[in-house]
Amino acid sequence: MNKSIVILISGRGSNMEALLKSRLPCRVAAVISNKADAEGLNIAQSHGIPTAVVSHRDHPDRVSFDTALAGVIDGFRPDFVILAGFMRILTEGFVNRYKGRLINIHPSLLPAYGGLDTHERALHDGVKIHGCTVHFVTPDLDHGPIIIQAAVPVLCHDTPQTLAKRVLHEEHRIYPQAIRWLCRNQIELNEDGRVILRHRKQVGHALISPSLE
Ligand code: GRF
Repeated sequence: MNKSIVILISGRGSNMEALLKSRLPCRVAAVISNKADAEGLNIAQSHGIPTAVVSHRDHPDRVSFDTALAGVIDGFRPDFVILAGFMRILTEGFVNRYKGRLINIHPSLLPAYGGLDTHERALHDGVKIHGCTVHFVTPDLDHGPIIIQAAVPVLCHDTPQTLAKRVLHEEHRIYPQAIRWLCRNQIELNEDGRVILRHRKQVGHALISPSLE
């Protein structure tokens, strides 16, 4: 295992936990939170992973927070920085420092529904298919090159909570897969900023929602 990652969280850390349980082909050097009471910190510790807190409240502005955060991250010398429910908007300087090495998971089929309250907005619009996306982070919020997506049907009695649960289940499947590809050098970014998967047969099945009779 010659690659290592640092995972950034802000809360419950279920995606982080899915990564820790996935026997990734890399070392998880640390889990860092911007909140001292993030539940995910206890989960990381129970897996024997070093943790750190860099509180945004200790900093007067984003640049100062991001500089402190980068200092702690760099102390662990990770190959990749993995955002897993990290609820801070990062400065352009921070994002560019980790160009091609900063990954995020977002609970929608990007580029639809960037930002917050994705499940509520999808339900409000009456879409029949929703999902989640793992992507490289660029300064353009929720718009970086897409690595993998999972689609789920939206059901007629869905609430934001039931839909979130169905999407989260898929998040826990696609995030470990994306990190595995990255750590095995199977992902390439082409000149157009699109993700190419090396040595992968492309197969796929249509998801039709509601299903055909
Ligand atoms: C997930 O839905 C993730 O897609 C989004 O924030 C949520 C974090 O959940 N970025 P958890 O902390 O991983 O449980």
